[in-house]
Order: sequence, then C-alpha cells, then structure tokens
Amino acid sequence: MGNATNASKKCGLGMVGLGVMGRNLLLNMAEKGFEVAGFDTDTTKVEALNKEANPRAHGVQTITDFIDLLAVPRVVMMLVPAGKPVDNVIHDLLPHLQKGDTIIDAGNSFFKDTESRIALLAKDGIHFVGVGISGGEKGARLGPSIMPGGAKEAYTNFQPLFEACAAKVNNEPCVAYLGTGAAGHYVKMVHNGIEYAIMELISETYDLLKRGLGVGNSELQQIYTDWNNHILNSYLVEITSHIFGKIDEKTGEPLIDKIQAIAKQLGTGMWTSQSAMELQVPTPTIDMAVAMRDLSMLDQQRVQASTILTRPVKTYNGDKKAFIEQLRKALYAGMVIAYAQGMALLSKASISLNYQLNLKTIASIWRGGCIIRATFLEDMRKAFEKEPTLQNILLDKNIAALLMENEEALREVVKTGADLGIPLPCLMTSLSYLDGYRSAWLPANLIQAQRDYFGSHTYERTDEKGTFHTEWENPTC
Ligand code: 6PG
Repeated sequence: MGNATNASKKCGLGMVGLGVMGRNLLLNMAEKGFEVAGFDTDTTKVEALNKEANPRAHGVQTITDFIDLLAVPRVVMMLVPAGKPVDNVIHDLLPHLQKGDTIIDAGNSFFKDTESRIALLAKDGIHFVGVGISGGEKGARLGPSIMPGGAKEAYTNFQPLFEACAAKVNNEPCVAYLGTGAAGHYVKMVHNGIEYAIMELISETYDLLKRGLGVGNSELQQIYTDWNNHILNSYLVEITSHIFGKIDEKTGEPLIDKIQAIAKQLGTGMWTSQSAMELQVPTPTIDMAVAMRDLSMLDQQRVQASTILTRPVKTYNGDKKAFIEQLRKALYAGMVIAYAQGMALLSKASISLNYQLNLKTIASIWRGGCIIRATFLEDMRKAFEKEPTLQNILLDKNIAALLMENEEALREVVKTGADLGIPLPCLMTSLSYLDGYRSAWLPANLIQAQRDYFGSHTYERTDEKGTFHTEWENPTC
C-alpha cells in the first residue's frame, strides 16, 4: 500500500488536495510509473488514496511528511477550489520551500490572481505555474487535457510526467506548454467559456425538441446518439445522449425530469466574458450562455412572469423529421461559432496580454481529454496549421464552407423558435454574430453621429482623413 514510510525513492511531484480530482490525477501519474506524494489534512481523503494500494502513490497527512517525500527541486501541485484556498495552500507551503521549487495551481483560478501569485513568489525564486486541467474526474484518472503556462524552465521539470498522464490523440499527448505568465489559466478559462456556450446551445435544442416537438426522453436519447455519430461528434453531445437514458434510482423515472432547472456556475464563463469585454473581442454566444445561467436562477420571477407575460408555447406542426435534421445542422453551426468566438479571444489575448499563444497547439490539445473535445477540433487545428495567426476561424475557407452548409438551417431554426415562443438566445445570437461578422457594412455610422450629436465625441469620414465634429443643431446647415 502507498504510504509515507515505504516510499522507495523521492517523489517527482506532490499533490496538495486529495479530493476526487487530485486523487485521480495522482493515481493516473502513479499508474504511468511516477513516484508521487499526496497531502490532505482530511484523514478520509488520505485513506481513500492509500486504499488504492498503488505502490507509487503515497498519501500523508502532515505537511512535513509530505515535504520529506519530495525530490529537490520540489514540484508541488495543488488541486483546490479557486480563490482563498489557493492562497492558504501557498501560505502553508512557503516555509518549507526554497529557491528553484515550483508550485503548480491546477485548479480553475482567475488568471489575474495567477499573475499576482507569479509575481509574489518570484521574489523568493519560486516558480508559480498556472495549469488548466480539463476532463472531470474520469479525465483526471484516464487522461485529461492539460494546459500549462508560466516559466518554461519550470515546465521542463514536470513535462515528461504531464505528457505521460495526458489524453492521447494519434499518439500525441493532449498537453503542451502554452505560453508565458497565466497563459495556462487563461486558455482554460476560455475553454470553459466555450464549454458554457456549447452546453447552452445543446440545451436550446433540447427545449425545442421537448416543448416544441413533444419528443420524449428515449427518443431524445436516440436523437443525440445519432447526432454524435456524425459531424456533431463531441463529448458534450455524447454525454447528453446518456443523460436522457438515465433512470432515477429513487423513483424509477427518467432522472433528467427530477433535476431542478437552475444552472449553477463557478465563474469561469463569466470571467471569459469579462475578459472579452476588456479586450474588446465580441463573444456574444458565450456572454449569452452566462446570462442564461443567470436567468435560470431567477426561477421565482420567471414563475411570476409566466402568469403576467402570457403567451403559451406553440407546438411545431411541420415535418418533424426534417426539422430535427435542421436542428442538428443549426447546433453544428452554433458550435462552430462558439469555438470561433473563443479562439478569436485567445488570438487577441495572445498579443494584448503577451501570452504568445500558439493557437494550433491549443486546438491540438483540445482534441482529446477535455470537455469541449469534438471532431471539429481537427478542422480547427488544420486551419491554424495553414494560417497560424488566423484572427477568426470563420475566415478559414474550409471552416467557412462547413458553416455555410449549415447556416440556412440555423436561420430556419431561429425563425421557428421565435414563432413557437421558445427561447433560443445562443442560437439566435450565434446567427446574428455570423450575420454581423460577415457584414461589410454595419450601422455604426449612426452611433458615431449620435455620439457626436450629444457629446461632441467626433467621427471619422469615409471620404477624408481626420476627425470631425458637427454642430448638429446648427440651423444654417
Ligand atoms: C473541465 C470543466 C471543469 C468544471 C468546471 C465547471 O474542463 O473539466 O470545465 O473545470 O466542470 O469547473 O464549471 P461551472 O461550475 O462554472 O459550470
């Protein structure tokens, strides 16, 4: 059994926080042949690790035992909730660490916090490395997608370990050094923003199928299974099909119908939108997905509003089979647009935040292990291979063609949703983003005129260089 006393050699990595994710990741590393240590003050969590009886995974309950187990320079990873817990772990570790050691924060920390922690620990010569890990509990154990950033010299200390335990696609590990500073956490944040958008898009198709077409759970399971077999092939569509087949042990009825329709969030989607606003990158599908989680929380108001703003949801009475096919295409188009917005944000952040991101690498490591893995990621990878500085994947001819094949279906679905009275905010927003993005002219000249009218903010002319102001209420002109 793995424990503190029978460690034959020093451990290349120590994990602080032996919750399900921490334990599973540690076991994954041990199974790949690495000697690793785990520390948690919670006895039951330490026992849960040691009960696995992996001779290379050593769970201990005191920080001194933990530090004793680690090879120097030490690599300590933490998988604890974002925020204060991260600072608490740093505080507890610091007296035991020395110059050249590395602390890895593998949780979903806010990238600006990571930047501050990097600067703080650099004063003691300690590397602080922000790493995004995606794939949930199962991914942690069987192979997650890993997004490390920070000091490259620190990364080389644990690169072999990360490459061994990451998911593999075509034998390539779904991990790569992504960039400087908080690049790892930034990329994971945007991953989650895309995750929010795709989850909401799928939920909107569910709403149309359930309320618009009256489709039941077993048929829903079949539909999403079919969708997963073609261009929509992705982890999130796959698990959606499984969800509709799950029976509640308590009642014997479909579990989905027993789950309260209120979506929670830990903040990464909101941070994506906030950062996008700061960098002035339009990511409206992601923003809307965050807003819809917030709207789902207003359940009491919505119950009240449903009795005041009355308009019953209509039932779709067209060709059901044809509509389901349109819906499949619409979801694909929405997903492509969600990825496009997320990647456009990464493209801008790479320059504005000086992360020096390689977008092809990001697309590659998202192909396996992570929550947003999808067959489409290979198309995206190819697009960045062709044009590494592509600002928006919709400008890639192949992706543009894939999108345009499905664009009319998206438009039809949005029209139907509006007619039935079923909210499709992410599908609608995706369509408007597409229509806006490909519109060579937008009515922003009017906004400029209004700004100049009421605030003398000036405007630029189409026929002359310079900035101009007009006295709009001057009766002589
Ligand atoms: C992943 C997930 C993971 C987690 C999110 C959920 O990539 O493995 O994104 O990080 O499920 O924290 O975030 P919300 O609670 O905000 O939906």
